[in-house]
Amino acid sequence: MNPETSPPSVMVDLIKVSKLYPPDVQAIADISLTVTKGEIVFLTGMSGAGKTTLLRLISRMEKPTKGMVDVAGFDVAKLSHRSIHLLRRKVGMAYQDFKLLPERTVADNIGIAMEVVYRPSSFIEKRTRELLEQLDLTKKYNTRAGELSRGEQQRVSIARAVANSPEIILADEPTGNLDAETTGRVMDLFHQLNRKGATILIATHDRSLFQETPHRVIELRFGRIRFPQAETQDDNDQVPDDALAVSQES
Ligand SMILES: Nc1ncnc2c1ncn2[C@@H]1O[C@H](COP(=O)(O)OP(=O)(O)OP(=O)(O)O)[C@@H](O)[C@H]1O
Ligand SMILES: [Mg+2]
Repeated sequence: MNPETSPPSVMVDLIKVSKLYPPDVQAIADISLTVTKGEIVFLTGMSGAGKTTLLRLISRMEKPTKGMVDVAGFDVAKLSHRSIHLLRRKVGMAYQDFKLLPERTVADNIGIAMEVVYRPSSFIEKRTRELLEQLDLTKKYNTRAGELSRGEQQRVSIARAVANSPEIILADEPTGNLDAETTGRVMDLFHQLNRKGATILIATHDRSLFQETPHRVIELRFGRIRFPQAETQDDNDQVPDDALAVSQES
């Protein structure tokens, strides 16, 4: 088949998905979303809108209350405990709270991801050093993760998420603690992995990441996808950018 005419393969398919945290928190409400191979998708929306929950549903950290979650061909809700590792090989997640092992070194934290898929130690060391160089952490190879700044921990968690070059990368606020230059490095890494075929979902509050992006930006609001045409007068209630400057002058 001519690859130019073949349909793009679906990597993430959510069909009418809801997630209720008992007793009454409707974190995700009836979301349908399809992401195809090689896409970069930004998920934005205010705190509590459901971004992390959506990523956790995709990585099977959570099961949906309703609806279907299909990821890389797996019907995620039906995946048995014994088969979850098959999904985890295809999905790398950088967590909002990093989830590093504080007593272990940076190299150990990144290496663990590769050890569990039986990469040889020579490969693990080379890949770890390569990622640390890209993320400007070369000198921290042997540092205990608990001694790192939050921005450094954040980058280690990103390195761990992408170490196995997963087909799908889920990044939860990946630049929340980073300055502009380091943010640029992280985004360069994502773009490089994307050029090699990775599908990437990035949950972020940082508008600078997607302000001029050619990629899809999806805004969540109260667990639902907010479509641009749903804009209301309420959305214009925000303080305009120049209002602060005016009030400071007066
Ligand atoms: N394990 C949980 N148990 C109960 N409620 C939860 C749980 N996790 C999240 N929630 C609730 O679900 C809603 C969505 O939370 P979520 O963490 O997905 O939001 P978010 O968009 O990632 O927010 P933030 O921008 O602050 O990271 C919130 O009301 C939150 O309090
Ligand atoms: Mg979150």
